[in-house]
Parts: sequence; structure tokens; C-alpha cells
Amino acid sequence: MPEVGFGTWRLRGDQARVAVRTALAVGYRHLDTATMYGNEADIGQALADSGIDRADVFLTTKIRPSDIGKARAVLRRSLQALRTDYLDLWLVHWPPSRASQSRQLWNELLELQAEGHVRDLGVSNYSLAEIDELTSSSGRTPAVNQIDWGPARYDARVLEGHANRGIAVEGYSGLKNTRLDDPVLVRIAAAHGVTPAQVVLRWHLEHNVTVIPKSEQPDRIAANFDVLGFRLSAAEVASIDGRPGR
Ligand SMILES: NC(=O)c1ccc[n+]([C@@H]2O[C@H](COP(=O)([O-])OP(=O)(O)OC[C@H]3O[C@@H](n4cnc5c(N)ncnc54)[C@H](OP(=O)(O)O)[C@@H]3O)[C@@H](O)[C@H]2O)c1
Repeated sequence: MPEVGFGTWRLRGDQARVAVRTALAVGYRHLDTATMYGNEADIGQALADSGIDRADVFLTTKIRPSDIGKARAVLRRSLQALRTDYLDLWLVHWPPSRASQSRQLWNELLELQAEGHVRDLGVSNYSLAEIDELTSSSGRTPAVNQIDWGPARYDARVLEGHANRGIAVEGYSGLKNTRLDDPVLVRIAAAHGVTPAQVVLRWHLEHNVTVIPKSEQPDRIAANFDVLGFRLSAAEVASIDGRPGR
């Protein structure tokens, strides 16, 4: 999974198609969507229009817990909308309210994965206890947990818990939920000649957390991807851990 992906929540229609085309043109090869976002067809169209080989792009979509019992039909529609015959990653968007439903949905997804249209399965917004429940009931651990993350949400135990279970963490809303005028971020950004937003994204990567920033502005789409050419020191990373959110 490429460590910087493009988030698409709230992008629809032309706006989604243009933003995804821009993201692909500046180098993103990882796109994050969900059936709930209502933009899978826009993303499929943008990918087809880009001329980039499907195999070179990592595609994630998500199934709503309310679609329990209907996973096969949901997957068929997602694949059709995205114009592909496989997903790189399929996530349960958030945990169903009852553990029995969570197990049922997970088993449905495992069955469909065995048929070959999904490379990896994961979850989103799950606690470690909810993940352990899935693992112990099915013998299969989610590959990924996509969670609300950022400096203000920093908790070393959460990262350690996922690492110990071999689960990759994807962070969402890290820009939206961070005060980008925070003096610590501003100082570190100036020291590296980058923006505070780039420092926040780089901070995720230093903690081995994949990022999927969303933007509809071409300059920001490009800048958010341009975070692979500098590193933060351990002291800088530690000084960002726990900085206030907004
Ligand atoms: N699994 C889940 O439950 C879940 C929940 C939420 C999000 N997600 C996924 O994660 C992705 C990212 O999360 P998100 O969209 O909530 O938040 P985000 O990417 O952290 O922030 C997006 C917001 O920040 C602004 N922004 C983007 N780049 C910026 C920059 N360089 N400087 C200043 N502001 C910037 C954007 O405005 P402009 O567009 O105007 O630039 C937008 O308002 C989503 O798009 C979605 O794919 C998943």
C-alpha cells in the first residue's frame, strides 16, 4: 500500500473527476473511496481517463455495516463503478453495533475474497478489542485499520497494539483536525522549508501511518504528495505527538 494516498470524501461529480485526475498526474498511486461517498463511478472514470494502468494504482473502497447480508451485490457494484475486476483493499467502514453482526459481515467479506476479486481485507474505525474479536472468531486478522488520526489523537499504545498484531494503520482527517498555525508545526516547517500541512503528513509517515489527505485544490493536492523528500528527527516527531487539534 503506497504510504501517501488520495482521500475523496465529499468529492462528487466533476469536482471528484478533476481532483482525482490531478492527483494521478502529480504522482498519487493510491485512491481511497467508499460506497458511502457516492463517487466510485467518478473515480473509475478519472482512472480510465488518466490512461494509467489499473495495476499501477492501489484502490481502496469500503462497505457500510448496514450492507450486511448484501456484500456480494455491493462488491459487484463497486467493481463496476470503479471499472475494475479487483480491489486492492476492501474495508468495513465502521463496526456494526453488535459483535455477532461484525463477525457475520467479516465472514461474508472473507468468502468473497476467496473468490479472487479482493486482494486484502481490512476495517475502519475499529478498536483493538473489536479487531481481536474478528481475529479469534475467523482466524483472519484485518490487514489494515483506517482510523481518525493526527497529532492530537496520538497514542503510542494504539500504534503499538496494531504493530503487535501486524495491522497497518491508515490515518484519516489528520489535516482537518490539526491546528496548522500551531507554533511548533510552524517552527518545524520553517526549518525544513515546507508547510505545516506537509509536516503533519510527514509526522504520520515517521510513525509508519499511511496518509490519505483530501483536497480539491491543485496546489494542495501536489504539496500533500510532496512529503517524501524530507525527514523529521526523532525529537521533532516527539514534539509534534499530542499537539492540539481543532
Ligand atoms: N474511514 C472513515 O471513516 C473516514 C472518515 C473520514 C475520512 N476518511 C478518508 O480520509 C480522507 C481524508 O480525511 P478528510 O477528508 O476528512 O480530512 P483531511 O484530508 O485531513 O483534510 C481535508 C481538509 O483539509 C483541507 N486541506 C487539504 N490539504 C490542505 C493543505 N495542504 N493545507 C491546508 N488545508 C488543506 C481540505 O480543503 P481543500 O479541499 O479546500 O483543500 C479539506 O477541508 C477522506 O477524504 C476519506 O477518503 C475516512
